Amino acid sequence: MAEEIGKAKKVRSVAVVRGKTEGHERVRPIEVIWGDTNTTTIHREWGCLLKVDPSRVFFTPRLSYERMRVAKLVRDGETVLNAFAGVGAFSILISKLHPSTKILSVDSNPCAFEFMLENRRLNKCWGVVPVLSDAFDVMKSFSDRFDRVLLPLPELSLKALPYAVRCVKNGGVIHFYGTACRKKGLPQASDLWNDIKEAVEGEARVDLKILNFRKVRAVNRGIYHVVYDLVVKKQYQNQNATSTSK
Ligand SMILES: C[S@@+](CC[C@H](N)C(=O)[O-])C[C@H]1O[C@@H](n2cnc3c(N)ncnc32)[C@H](O)[C@@H]1O
Repeated sequence: MAEEIGKAKKVRSVAVVRGKTEGHERVRPIEVIWGDTNTTTIHREWGCLLKVDPSRVFFTPRLSYERMRVAKLVRDGETVLNAFAGVGAFSILISKLHPSTKILSVDSNPCAFEFMLENRRLNKCWGVVPVLSDAFDVMKSFSDRFDRVLLPLPELSLKALPYAVRCVKNGGVIHFYGTACRKKGLPQASDLWNDIKEAVEGEARVDLKILNFRKVRAVNRGIYHVVYDLVVKKQYQNQNATSTSK
């Protein structure tokens, strides 16, 4: 059966998923049931080449539309932080569309980092700056630095949000990915929006405005991965600007 599928689809290997996506690295256990056991491949998306090995790194083509949506929002010359960058799929596309943009792209999985380096080279996207590190350590070392911060890891976004708020500039945007239940009412009425507000409660004089909201993909019955595009207003900076200009 596996061989028939492989030959009909003209693919090198046929693999089955053997369990759930696990841990913060979001890797799914897969087993090759026919063909070449080397599961490294090149995925083509929006004119970009993305080298991935689904047995060692997270990757899904289902985020393709979302990657283009975000990339189109970026303006030339922005400084962007992609906190959970994986193999660099968001970062590579942003850099392709906006070569003058710098995208600091952090991942703690050494395999994802290696693929990100390779994808930067394959696509000649020199604006992508791959960093092998814990994103929290990187975010802690910046304040008011980025025009845009991506948090594409729903399992850690709430924890990362206060750090992202500190390192984004006044008026900058955070793309916050989370999990929400349709029944609870979206976007403002959702439990997630309450959790977002609670997560930044400790950040004095910071206000979040929803610029955009969308369901990214269904992950279970009635459960969605969603994204909030949040504009960060830092009131203390406005006051300083006002008092200086008087
Ligand atoms: C859902 S994947 C990112 C997907 C990616 N944005 C894409 O479009 O392919 C989340 C990534 O975050 C990384 N990660 C998990 N915890 C991290 C941490 N504390 N610091 C940096 N990266 C982390 C994982 O290794 C994984 O590659």
